[in-house]
Amino acid sequence: MTQGFQKVAAIRGMNDVLPGVGARWEQFEEIVRNWLHAYGYRNVRTPVLEHTRLFARGIGEVTDIVEKEMYTFTDALNGESLTMRPEMTAGIVRASIEHNLLYDRPHRVYSLGPVFRHERPQRGRYRQFHQIDVEALGFTGPDVDAELIVMLARLWKLLGLTDVRLELNSLGQPAERAAHRAALIEHLERHRDVLDEDGLRRMYSNPLRVLDTKNPAMQAMADSAPRLFDFLGDESRAHFDGVRQRLDDAGIGYRLNPRLVRGLDYYNLTVFEWVTDRLGAQGTVCGGGRYDGLIELLGGKPAPAVGFAIGMERLLDLWDQTAPPAAVPECEIYIVHQGDDAQRLAAKVGEQLRDAGLSVIVHAGAASFKSQFKRADASGARVAVILGADEVASATAGVKPLRGTADGAGQEQVPLAQLAQFVRQPQ
Ligand code: HAM
Repeated sequence: MTQGFQKVAAIRGMNDVLPGVGARWEQFEEIVRNWLHAYGYRNVRTPVLEHTRLFARGIGEVTDIVEKEMYTFTDALNGESLTMRPEMTAGIVRASIEHNLLYDRPHRVYSLGPVFRHERPQRGRYRQFHQIDVEALGFTGPDVDAELIVMLARLWKLLGLTDVRLELNSLGQPAERAAHRAALIEHLERHRDVLDEDGLRRMYSNPLRVLDTKNPAMQAMADSAPRLFDFLGDESRAHFDGVRQRLDDAGIGYRLNPRLVRGLDYYNLTVFEWVTDRLGAQGTVCGGGRYDGLIELLGGKPAPAVGFAIGMERLLDLWDQTAPPAAVPECEIYIVHQGDDAQRLAAKVGEQLRDAGLSVIVHAGAASFKSQFKRADASGARVAVILGADEVASATAGVKPLRGTADGAGQEQVPLAQLAQFVRQPQ
């Protein structure tokens, strides 16, 4: 007997996508790619691993993500601190600076892929999850801010989603935030007695985030806090008005949410989230906004930017509820065969049908016709192609529709030379 091996399970909060569900992901990704191309966005792919200081600087030292959610380790070979990306914006901005992407024109880019955050797993909150990240680099807005939001409304429509709501806010510019911050710290100092541990710890380092609390004992204090909106200057207000006008033009409703601050420090001016009540506690399917200071903060020539990321697992969950997934067939044509010669012919015929653009499974191994037909049926194929000794001798194939006809009905013998043409027509 071999030594016992304790089975290995996946890491908590990191999900396997199995065959049937994988097909659903592919359908979803196809809709998403077509949607992105409709607005001229082009694909980029940056590494999953980056230097830790990119995220510390980009996302902000005093954020939940950087303080406690990053998968960080020391590279054993050279002692560098590396981090699995907890989001994609910092990496895309790094790449755009490194390759001088914004040298002569702005860029609309997107990336799909896994990101990693060490959060407590629950429905809709995972440690490895996937984002559709969309960035418009080098645009001042507000037209582009609005276009991004309109674009998202189109995606919800494409997916048949009706109950995703938009929350909108403006965070103004750094100087306006500094004035607000000073007023806010004064307010927090006056209400020091109601602050919880997190609140006390952050009141000087990140007072805005203190208002983002879920602690009911702090709600009254948060509600009466000075509003950033009242500190915005003319330009910031004009930018925000520009976004709002364009949303009105497009007929997109939203809720102004002055408490919407987002969990990453790089934002200025427009910020937004799309939320739903249908996903339980993790109802935010998309978050984003403008981050005009990030490129410079990361060492690039100053340039404006705006973008968003969608949580793919959350959006898929919502889509599944709205449009329950139909099983996706494994192939169109399933070839069954009997005998060694027929098996070899089946392999050849399979290649010929694929040359004609069809999706084909050739039954692997040898088995009775009965069990091969069972497999053919389970595959979801619309047609079975049957090859036996007679077919080998006569250079023909049996063609049997598997869907929508009575059992055994409609089988025909077709010369191999005409097979591709024959099975291409829906039976
Ligand atoms: P974020 O709000 O941190 O923004 O994440 C975007 C979306 O990712 C969320 O709205 C949510 O749908 C999904 N998400 C976040 N955490 C989890 C999790 N643990 N499990 C499953 N889904 C999750 C960003 O990441 C920014 N980089 C967005 C951005 C791009 N801003 C400008 N450009």
